[in-house]
Amino acid sequence: MKIFLDTASVAEIREAASLGLVDGVTTNPSLLAKEKAPYRDVLASICALVEGPISAEVVATDASSMMREGRDLAGIAPNIVVKVPLTAEGLKAVRELKREGIRTNVTLCFSAPQALFAAKAGAYIVSPFVGRLDDIGIDGMALIKDIRQIYRNYGFETQILVASIRNPLHVIEAALLGADIATMPASVYQSLLKHPLTDIGLARFLEDWRKAEPELKAQKIETAV
Ligand code: E4P
Repeated sequence: MKIFLDTASVAEIREAASLGLVDGVTTNPSLLAKEKAPYRDVLASICALVEGPISAEVVATDASSMMREGRDLAGIAPNIVVKVPLTAEGLKAVRELKREGIRTNVTLCFSAPQALFAAKAGAYIVSPFVGRLDDIGIDGMALIKDIRQIYRNYGFETQILVASIRNPLHVIEAALLGADIATMPASVYQSLLKHPLTDIGLARFLEDWRKAEPELKAQKIETAV
């Protein structure tokens, strides 16, 4: 499963990407609005930091304006994927942008039939929002399971990107269900690596080694002689 960061913060992306495990980035208008720099510059910096797909969202609501904005965003860098909302106008734009060779990420997906339509329209990625469904008492992961099954049944190549991730459990479930991508805030990404038993175990190993160090050093000298 590919791991994407869900942020427009260049500093967060730089730090997380230093591990070499970030496969892409998703942004949205709310995330870009938080940054104190022109959005085109922010997107260009992100595209230079991470080689994989970088999602940048249109803000128009009619198909022809979405296409115009999509072409403009795609011109920022070759790894831009144009994010389009899952509306009737959005799907018209997706079809047309695909004909022009521009990849799309159909966002704000909350149901299986919406995901079916996104795939039929030719989306490169579909983004079901699990956290926002959980927030209103609907099982977000059940939606991922349904979409996975539907895409498998008909051989759709649209990638399932699990979005609106709130915690590591969402990431584990996404992987178990065979999602293609999980996008997450930097805080969740950082927490995936951590386990208290790893820290405790490492501290104990190092402490035992430190205590035995004089004897171990002596062994080295003996071997050298
Ligand atoms: C996905 O591409 C969205 O940017 C994102 O995952 C939304 O997450 P939120 O529901 O935490 O805002």
